[in-house]
Amino acid sequence: MAKNVIEVRNLTKVFDKTIKAVDHINFEVEQGEIFGFLGPNGAGKTTTISMLATILKPTEGNATICGHDIIKEPDTVRRCIGIVFQDPSLDDRLTGRENLDFHARLYRIQRDLRKKRITEVLELVNLTEQADRLVETYSGGMKRRLEIARGLMHYPHVLFLDEPTIGLDPQSRRAIWSHIERLNKEEDITIMLSTHYMEEADHLCARIAIIDHGQIVACNNPMALKDELGGDIILLRPVNGTLMEHLLGPFQGLEWIRKISPTDGIFNLVVDQGEKRIPQVLAIAKNAGVEIASVGLNKPTLDDVFLHFTGRRIREERGDRASMFKTMMRARNRRR
Ligand SMILES: Nc1ncnc2c1ncn2[C@@H]1O[C@H](COP(=O)(O)OP(=O)(O)OP(=O)(O)O)[C@@H](O)[C@H]1O
Ligand SMILES: [Mg+2]
Repeated sequence: MAKNVIEVRNLTKVFDKTIKAVDHINFEVEQGEIFGFLGPNGAGKTTTISMLATILKPTEGNATICGHDIIKEPDTVRRCIGIVFQDPSLDDRLTGRENLDFHARLYRIQRDLRKKRITEVLELVNLTEQADRLVETYSGGMKRRLEIARGLMHYPHVLFLDEPTIGLDPQSRRAIWSHIERLNKEEDITIMLSTHYMEEADHLCARIAIIDHGQIVACNNPMALKDELGGDIILLRPVNGTLMEHLLGPFQGLEWIRKISPTDGIFNLVVDQGEKRIPQVLAIAKNAGVEIASVGLNKPTLDDVFLHFTGRRIREERGDRASMFKTMMRARNRRR
């Protein structure tokens, strides 16, 4: 069995005695996993990551990282982890290389090793050529990559990424995704990331915890989460609508078809693992002598999963514009 790198037990954070930001959460992250925390604005993602990274003290509960207690052994925990914060935290007036050097000194990495490691991490995030340019000339995606490089300086086993692609354009987002995947596979780094982008969680994460109002409402792999919703829909359009009734009989006898609704010349079949059922459905139609004009497959998205567990859509809570604005304002306030 794979080893748990992160174990979280009843972890809780209450701010100002009343705000339950994180409310008795439990989960484990296995060695080598990319684990996602998906939730809307204010769900408790940053608070959880901050407690695991020993920046905030839990009100109740505990966690271990690589077997070390976050409350009793914070220094050891810090040596095992790298963190990329949600808010930009680079010095714009330094070059990329200087930012890394500054960080390495803070971590007391010896001079020879420092130089070698800076070269390595710059290479890992494809910033070697831009390393000696001032960070203020970097694009948003480049800044994010530099922050990831900085999180890797001291060879962490676990990397926390708090909203790694917030506010980035789709192309830069994809580039960050491939870097994250590479670090995970080639450097064998276990990654826990938070996001409110469903596509991101879906694309990157082996498992996802859906967090809402400080509680984990569901935790599983993306496919299983979607399957829990009751199934995919196969849309079957026969060439001649008048022959629809020939199909009803054969379909009704099958236990793997959960629901059949023939409407407007199309059969809607609710099944699990729709892509695997399509060939069977087509074979049945052929046997019944019904020619099929087109087949479609609607799979539930993580947005549907979120709706199922919380009664709301994640998109309603927070559009991209709103989150970009928030990041911009934070960056501005920081500079003042
Ligand atoms: N220092 C603090 N003092 C008081 N309340 C706080 C503090 N930090 C966070 N909170 C509150 O705790 C809750 C969780 O906040 P948190 O930042 O963890 O959410 P999040 O999921 O990271 O949200 P976002 O997507 O906006 O980053 C929110 O209600 C927030 O207002
Ligand atoms: Mg946050």
